[in-house]
Amino acid sequence: MAGTKPNTSLNLYKNRSKFKWVVLGVSVFISLVSIYYTNVLVGQLKSREEKHIGLYASTLEYIANQQNNSDMNFVFEEIIVSNKSIPVIVTDEIGKPLQSRNIPKVDRAVTPKEKNKILKEELEIMESEHEPLLVTLRTDGNITGYQFIYYRNSSLLAQLKYYPVVQLSIIGIFGMIAFLVFNYSKAAEQNRVWVGMAKETAHQLGTPISSLMAWVEYLKADENLTDKEIIVELEKDVERLNMITSRFSNIGSEPTLESANVYRVIDDTIAYLKRRVSTKVIFTIRCFPNDELEANLNIPLFEWVIENICKNAVDAMSGDGQINISILKANEGHVVVDIADTGKGIAKSMIPKIFQPGYSTKKRGWGLGLTLVKRIIENYHKGKIYVKDSELNKGTTFRISLRS
Ligand SMILES: Nc1ncnc2c1ncn2[C@@H]1O[C@H](COP(=O)(O)OP(=O)(O)OP(=O)(O)O)[C@@H](O)[C@H]1O
Ligand SMILES: [Mg+2]
Repeated sequence: MAGTKPNTSLNLYKNRSKFKWVVLGVSVFISLVSIYYTNVLVGQLKSREEKHIGLYASTLEYIANQQNNSDMNFVFEEIIVSNKSIPVIVTDEIGKPLQSRNIPKVDRAVTPKEKNKILKEELEIMESEHEPLLVTLRTDGNITGYQFIYYRNSSLLAQLKYYPVVQLSIIGIFGMIAFLVFNYSKAAEQNRVWVGMAKETAHQLGTPISSLMAWVEYLKADENLTDKEIIVELEKDVERLNMITSRFSNIGSEPTLESANVYRVIDDTIAYLKRRVSTKVIFTIRCFPNDELEANLNIPLFEWVIENICKNAVDAMSGDGQINISILKANEGHVVVDIADTGKGIAKSMIPKIFQPGYSTKKRGWGLGLTLVKRIIENYHKGKIYVKDSELNKGTTFRISLRS
């Protein structure tokens, strides 16, 4: 579809979205590797903890079955006391806690009642995490009773499970900050280029314009020149060049705003445009509640905005159709200008792209017109501009909101 062709001469838009996908792809890859590796570690640690608890149960069973406990101290120290991380509760056969290890909440409890309550809660959690282990108590080979060992994952294992989430959040936050800094520095760089180019252009135009003005004066004084029409036309062109210079010099410096009659500024711009476009383009301007509406404008820049939007409209209608401009008083302190055309419209998916530099569907388009328009309205006038609505083959309406 022709509407999706980005301009090849200014391909910033396409490259930027490619770069975003590469960054996203690399981040997803890093995240998957990280989750996979953490899962492997969690699995290894879990099986180690399960083995430790199995040994714990065997030790308890072994100790209980020994008549002579003299050499048991060593085993007890090595296996039971050395467990400083896995929370364990040993109960009798009806589930009454007999002893516990590594549950800080139990150690902090003051009263036996409090202690019991905590142990009960812990037992429930433990039961939901792992099957308890059975310890068979024997005396002289005869079974005399049973005990159960309940346990849960060590805090290290629990923390390791959350590690990918923490790690991904940190990567995410870092990525977001990097993206913002990148965007900010890019915007600042673009800003410098715009301002620098505009200043330089205004400066360069200044000398030949002064010279042209002097030539016009010279010709005016020439009595031999019979066709005075030439001078009138020349003066108009010089005036136009002066206006272009003033636009560039306004873009290149901090522009001043003044309260101006919106209708009159737009009407002047349209009068100029009308002479330069096909007579098949009909312009209408309406103003509500009356044509005295004022807004804070930098006139040369605002004229440039209207000119750019109307030129796009003329292109979209292939030089045949209507451009209807409505100026309305919105809520207190705001004036809106709607510019509607009867052109080919913009596909919904393309609307977010039209303000990006370099986006153009025209053979000779630079894709800079609307970027400039947005910049003038938002940065210099502190207003807003957006596509109010657009329908394919019916037309498009742009809305500008200004402060009055
Ligand atoms: N009124 C409109 N109707 C349909 N499409 C539009 C309209 N206005 C803008 N567009 C689309 O938005 C694109 C970008 O517009 P923009 O003014 O930024 O660049 P351009 O007109 O292509 O080139 P330049 O203005 O730099 O000469 C256009 O190429 C066109 O596809
Ligand atoms: Mg344009």
